[in-house]
Amino acid sequence: MSAPSIVDLESPGCTDAVLLGDWHVVATSAEIGYGDLHATTLLERDLVLWRDREGEMHAWDDLCVHRGARLSKGFVKDNRVVCPYHGWNYDGEAKCVFMPAAPSEKPMKKARAIPHHVQEKYGLVWVCIGTPAHDIPSFPEWDDHSYKKVVCGPYRFRSGYRAVENFIDASHFPFVHAGVNGVIDDPDPIAPYEVYEDDQGIYSTEVRVTQPYGDPRGIPVIAYYAYRVFRPLVAYFKKRVVIADPARAHEGDEADRFCTFLTAQPVDQTTSIVRICCAMNFDPAPSDEDVRRRQDLVYAQDSAIVDTQRPERIPVELRYELHHRSDLMGQKYRSWLKSAGVTYGAFGSL
Ligand code: FES
Ligand code: FE
Repeated sequence: MSAPSIVDLESPGCTDAVLLGDWHVVATSAEIGYGDLHATTLLERDLVLWRDREGEMHAWDDLCVHRGARLSKGFVKDNRVVCPYHGWNYDGEAKCVFMPAAPSEKPMKKARAIPHHVQEKYGLVWVCIGTPAHDIPSFPEWDDHSYKKVVCGPYRFRSGYRAVENFIDASHFPFVHAGVNGVIDDPDPIAPYEVYEDDQGIYSTEVRVTQPYGDPRGIPVIAYYAYRVFRPLVAYFKKRVVIADPARAHEGDEADRFCTFLTAQPVDQTTSIVRICCAMNFDPAPSDEDVRRRQDLVYAQDSAIVDTQRPERIPVELRYELHHRSDLMGQKYRSWLKSAGVTYGAFGSL
């Protein structure tokens, strides 16, 4: 029997194939430059992210195979990661190429960092710690240059699934976002809508709501949300916005859309980090700061309530909690998670 690898000694945390084979956002591209060692955790696995001089991103276990020190506590020198403990140097191939205690010796073959799959897309850094089972979901407006894009966040939530479910739920607007995305004294009735499933996940037909300040322009609008869930922790909406006051209609255009692509990083079963990319084609476009200010407000309002939900883990069996037809998208999301085999961070799934 071969000796156990140091990798086996790490707690596996999650065993759901659907999550291990998925791409998860763990950082924004903008926050990692050459010279940075960025520590983060995905599915209870500690990672270090770094960008080499050529601009390529790397995601490794945050662990030196020599004596298990955290590589993220070290530094980058000459395009190599230097461990903080005994100074082993790892190159961009994750190979140890220099041991200061034996400078003339070639490091042994096994002296390697533990790399993971990593890609940058939509201004976000995506990691898969298993074998990728599919591509990163497509963000329909990303390549459309008529849309301005703004990456916002990070926003901390306990349950990433509850954050996603909140994102696809229009009936909380008048209460959680009173005066912003809804009117507390005059909440919108939610007309029946449909939810379908296709090979990209689940999606809804449009849901109509009134929004006094529904987008960064600060103009009262009637909004029509079409939701999508691409992956257990990746969702999206495309919002058609119509200026509510006919006298101000000339300030908008019937092609006006505001879209959001949302990702939740599962740190552990009850800790997650939400990052979003907004895309809008308004003219004139709001500034990046205006978009971020508004999203920071809205997501702070959301997490203040969503983080009070119990159980913290989302129930994926519909017999727990109550479901109304206005919650159809959330209800389908829970059933879809269950059928995808999600148990990690879920309540009541066998
Ligand atoms: Fe990293 Fe010793 S623990 S060089
Ligand atoms: Fe909300």
